[in-house]
Amino acid sequence: MHIILLGAPGTGKGTQSKFITEKYKIPQISTGDILREHIKLNNEIGKKIYSILKNGELVADDIVCNLVYQTIKSKNYINGFLLDGFPRTIKQAKYISNLGIKINFVLELIVPDKIILQRISGRRIHIQSGRSYHIHFNPPIEEGKDDITKDDLITRDDDKIESINNRLKNYKKNSHMLTEYYLKEEQLNNLKFFKIDASKHQDYIRKEIQIILDKKN
Ligand code: AP5
Repeated sequence: MHIILLGAPGTGKGTQSKFITEKYKIPQISTGDILREHIKLNNEIGKKIYSILKNGELVADDIVCNLVYQTIKSKNYINGFLLDGFPRTIKQAKYISNLGIKINFVLELIVPDKIILQRISGRRIHIQSGRSYHIHFNPPIEEGKDDITKDDLITRDDDKIESINNRLKNYKKNSHMLTEYYLKEEQLNNLKFFKIDASKHQDYIRKEIQIILDKKN
């Protein structure tokens, strides 16, 4: 099964990805996590993209497409994967289509901006695993610590108001074209496209996703 998870920052892509990958036994490909890993390694790509991520701008299509390609050609991804945060531009959407991989589902998570700001401002993450918490909505068992490893949780560099606004602006600039693209693909019977009200409790969204994936699988 190949799934694409679309959604503005803070709509819960990372949170729901964890559920989907565990339930359906497919690996997650989060372009945000991959890019942050390069920054952490401080390699050539990492140096190039550091300020782009910090400011909430989009990384160039060729860099991101190449990183996705390098990931999916590994044997762990042969039986399917979940793309979290990719594609974000029409060029990226066409790139993945042109690879000849059959995408089964595109799920778009939708949340009003006001709630997005509340979610991102309270987010804490476990950088090693990508596990995401919220100080009020999804607190860790022990304050400031990952539930499993007990490592310290951190606030992301780009979870500052200016970068959040840029991330939202970039999402809105591209999302209309992406939605149109996938609606057309659905009309051609190439995939199933669902918009999900993701402003509800995460358990409710999880159930909704499960119903979609189980029924149509
Ligand atoms: P990325 O890491 O993908 O960030 P993003 O898209 O901005 O999304 P977020 O990770 O902020 O949010 P999320 O939707 O995963 O929400 P989460 O589950 O954490 O990308 C970072 C950057 O990398 C981009 O800005 C760009 O620079 C670059 N980049 C990445 N991909 C790229 C691409 N394809 N092309 C070009 N550049 C690219 O939830 C948020 C918070 O809310 C958490 O605290 C969580 O606990 C809480 N929460 C989740 N669900 C609920 C709920 N239902 N109710 C209450 N709280 C909830």
